[in-house]
Parts: sequence; C-alpha cells; structure tokens
Amino acid sequence: MLILGIETSCDDTGVALVEAKGNRFRVHSNVIISQAKLHNRYGGVVPEVAARNHLKNIIPAVDEALGNTKPSKLDTIAVTAGPGLVTSLHVGVETAKTLSLAWNVPLVGINHMEGHIYSVLLPPPPVHRRGLGGGFGTTAKIKFPAVALIVSGGHTELIYMPGHGTYKLLGKTRDDAAGEAFDKAAFMLGLPYPGGPAISKVAEKGDPESFEIPRPMIERDDCEFSFSGMKNAIRLIVESYKKRRTRLPINDLAASIQQAIIDILITKSLIAIAKAKPKTFILAGGVAANAALRAQLAEKLPKNANLFISPISYSQDNGAMIAAAAHRRIKNKQFDSPESLTANAHWELV
Ligand code: KG4
Ligand code: ZN
Repeated sequence: MLILGIETSCDDTGVALVEAKGNRFRVHSNVIISQAKLHNRYGGVVPEVAARNHLKNIIPAVDEALGNTKPSKLDTIAVTAGPGLVTSLHVGVETAKTLSLAWNVPLVGINHMEGHIYSVLLPPPPVHRRGLGGGFGTTAKIKFPAVALIVSGGHTELIYMPGHGTYKLLGKTRDDAAGEAFDKAAFMLGLPYPGGPAISKVAEKGDPESFEIPRPMIERDDCEFSFSGMKNAIRLIVESYKKRRTRLPINDLAASIQQAIIDILITKSLIAIAKAKPKTFILAGGVAANAALRAQLAEKLPKNANLFISPISYSQDNGAMIAAAAHRRIKNKQFDSPESLTANAHWELV
C-alpha cells in the first residue's frame, strides 16, 4: 500500500512516500523543506511567513517525494488537518484535496499528534542518500495499554492509549510546551531558532549542575506540567551577568536549562507509568530528538515498560509520520471527502 503523507502544520513543509506492508513501513522518500532560517530572526514562527513559504514549497516537495512513482500508483493521500497554525494547515489540506480529486486517489485527514505517536513505527532511514531506501522496519508492535509522552513546540502531554487510535489525557502543560521552553530559553541566550537543537549542542560542553533552574510542579504527584516559570529565572541570570559585564557561561547555563526540562519530563513520565502501568512507553515529538532526554529516559524507565522512541529523523515534523498514522485509518476505510475536509487548528487528540 503506497501512501503520500503531507504535513504543513507549522513551519516545515513535509511530504513523504511511504509503503505499508502488513504492519511494517518502508519510507521511499521523506522530503522536508525547513523554514528555520527564515524564522530565526524572529525567535519563533511567523504564521504569515510560514504559510507563504508552504505555498512556494508544497508542489516541488510533492514532486520530489513522488520521484518516478506515478500518482496512479498511490493508494491514499494523507494530510495533517490539525492541530497547528491555521494558515499553514490550509496549504497542506487544500493541496491534498486538489490532488485527491485530480488524481482520483482517496484522502484521509490526520491529527498531527497522532502522527507523532505513530512515527515510532517508522524504520530508521539509512545513513546514505537522503532518506531513500531503508527497507521495511521491524515487526515490533505497540503493546497495550501504552502511554505516550508527546513533546513538541506546541504540545507537552502524557496520553494513555488502551488500544490503537484511542486516547485519554493523563496530563498536559498548563502554559508553555517543552519545545517552546527550549526555544524561548535559546532566544534569551542569543542562540538560533529552533532552540532545542541549539541548546543541546552547547549543553554538551556544559555542567548541568552549575545553575539552579526551577522545576515547576515537579513535586506534585500528577501528570501536569509547567515550564513558564523557568523563563523568569533565566532572564534574571542573563541580566545579572549583563549588569556585572561578565561573559555569560552559555554552555553551563544551557546544560542546566536542558537538565531542568529533562528532569520535569522524566519525573512526570515515571508518575504516569506508576499510575497507568503501561506495557509500552512512547516518546515522540520534536523534543524527542534530544539525545540527553533519550538516554536518561531509557536509563530510568522500568525494564518492563517497552520503550518506543521515534527515530531521530522522524521526531521533527515530517510527512512520513502522517502516512504512518494514516495506515490504520485506511485499513478501517475511514476516508475523508475531498469536498468537505477542512483544517482544524484546534483539533486536540483528547
Ligand atoms: O514536533 P516539532 O517538529 O514541531 C511541532 O509540532 O511543534 O517540534 C519542534 C520543537 C521545537 O520547539 C524545537 O526546539 C524542538 O522541537 N526540538 C528539540 C530538539 N530538536 C527539536 N528540543 C530539544 N532538543 C532537540 N534536539
Ligand atoms: Zn509536531
């Protein structure tokens, strides 16, 4: 089964061609046209700029993802229909609807967060040649119940999954998302957008215990998160160095911020595991690319909770994860009509 996955919910234009065989996936292509450089100077995504660039990039991305594959060979077009920036979502949804009608290929609208969750089933791409090839992934299955920690630029939530496609919220952030905390901290430290990769890079050379960064709500025995209190603490540290005209020890500060975010994420994950006793624990979303988080979570997780982490190349927004999430919907014949599918910026999983 050949699925074309389209993702434009934020600032990355992602289009992938994914083949599903049984329960396994092969990613034939995974084109991501990043706009990070364009948004860098603003320290975050500017919706108007993002939508305009999706418009410019979407058809070239579809062309590149298809390569020599004829549209008539496609079984389904899967597209992110929400949540996200509405103007960005519209570009992907309207493109997918148009292609579905023009090529006479069925259409399915996918929730972006479900895409992140199902990205854990994608095989890691080979190191050679731009994500092509790779073979089919493992036959490893998600055992239920599962708990998923989704950490991205817009979301931080722990979700309980009694089975495929069913979700119950265990807890989420009250304010900023974990990725947003990385992005805002990076901005204050004068590091580029997106902040997560920038902070984790300099943090490698820093001491995570050198600064005291607050870990809001970590003492509470629940799955609620809060990251906004960190900003003030970081601002005060940065200002105190400015006042004293002393060079800010960026590596140490970045390492301390990263460790504080990781401590919160892992503590709340362990609470969720103690409460829900999952057979599988899933880590997904852009922040799942963080090497220190991956390593520390793997070390601290109870041995009986199978850990599924999305391959690093499918942690950030991409079309392949949207195709992976579509697979089960296609098998259940849950298609959407190209006449009526609409983008829903506030489409929450739970
Ligand atoms: O899932 P994603 O690509 O887009 C959204 O759906 O939001 O996540 C983007 C977020 C950004 O906030 C970015 O800073 C963060 O993921 N991120 C990271 C890393 N790579 C990306 N955060 C921490 N460490 C990383 N290595
Ligand atoms: Zn995302």
